[in-house]
Amino acid sequence: MNFGLPTLTNTANTSTANSATNDESTTPLERDRPADGSSSTDAGRSSTRATTETDTIIEARGVDVYYDADQALQSVDIEIPERQVTAMIGPSGCGKSTFLRSINRMNDLIDIARVEGELRFHGKNVYDEDVDPVALRRKIGMVFQKPNPFPKSIRDNVAYGLEVQGTTDDIDERVERALKNAALWDEVRDQLDKSGLELSGGQQQRLCIARAIATDPEVILMDEPASALDPVATSKIEDLIEELAEEYTVVIVTHNMQQAARISDKTAVFLTGGELVEFGETEKIFENPDHDRVEDYITGKFG
Ligand SMILES: Nc1ncnc2c1ncn2[C@@H]1O[C@H](COP(=O)(O)OP(=O)(O)OP(=O)(O)O)[C@@H](O)[C@H]1O
Ligand SMILES: [Mg+2]
Repeated sequence: MNFGLPTLTNTANTSTANSATNDESTTPLERDRPADGSSSTDAGRSSTRATTETDTIIEARGVDVYYDADQALQSVDIEIPERQVTAMIGPSGCGKSTFLRSINRMNDLIDIARVEGELRFHGKNVYDEDVDPVALRRKIGMVFQKPNPFPKSIRDNVAYGLEVQGTTDDIDERVERALKNAALWDEVRDQLDKSGLELSGGQQQRLCIARAIATDPEVILMDEPASALDPVATSKIEDLIEELAEEYTVVIVTHNMQQAARISDKTAVFLTGGELVEFGETEKIFENPDHDRVEDYITGKFG
């Protein structure tokens, strides 16, 4: 298949301010996707949509992460399915954020972090020498716990990534589409020049999601995206995540068990020591996990 990192590396080489990328005419919703042709089955989450068995988009094999001499993750193996919601849960300090950051090489930005093992995106190890981490992060975007809009207008916040990657055409249309996909358009359509910082916390988080979507990623990593929000804003983000999974692969870290159970198809349980103890269908993890330690964590006996 030719939609993985080799293309991405080319994109990186050509994406200067004057040379727009080849897939400029595509949009998140029009994007060419591999046909999967497999049959529909019910997945773990309660949504009424029929989910489709999909290919693995991200695969970790024996991933160890160290901060200097301290090991934060131990030999993590996982296969994350395309266009589903995968939740990562586990007690504080067990390595959830570390794992999320190793997927799009954000750990590169931490001097003392070292990743070993293989982390594949469409089968290609993202730690190979020919992978450009900046281009990778365009394909695998990230949304953080605390909304972090730039001190710029709503429009400029969303357009930012497009400009960085050299996209100059149809900016207004792309901004509108991203804001619509992030379920924010109706609230901001008449105030696109207003500062992103003047929005409410929940709106700011949807603005950050719009910013992440605008550059046409395939995967969106979310690290506790709703933990700083009130219940109404949280519920909006949860609805949005379920919608996003129609088009994107979503990997979300959450401390909220109900949230993981509600919105995810698959759940990965990390436990203290940086071990991925169990991974599987969300319903199975929450109702009948294989490991006692997982059951104890989920039922609140520790953590
Ligand atoms: N930048 C860093 N420098 C050094 N150690 C770090 C760094 N980031 C994380 N760690 C360590 O790695 C381990 C895993 O941390 P991580 O932030 O991944 O956990 P987490 O599961 O996301 O926790 P939380 O639920 O509290 O966010 C912890 O022991 C933490 O102290
Ligand atoms: Mg964390």
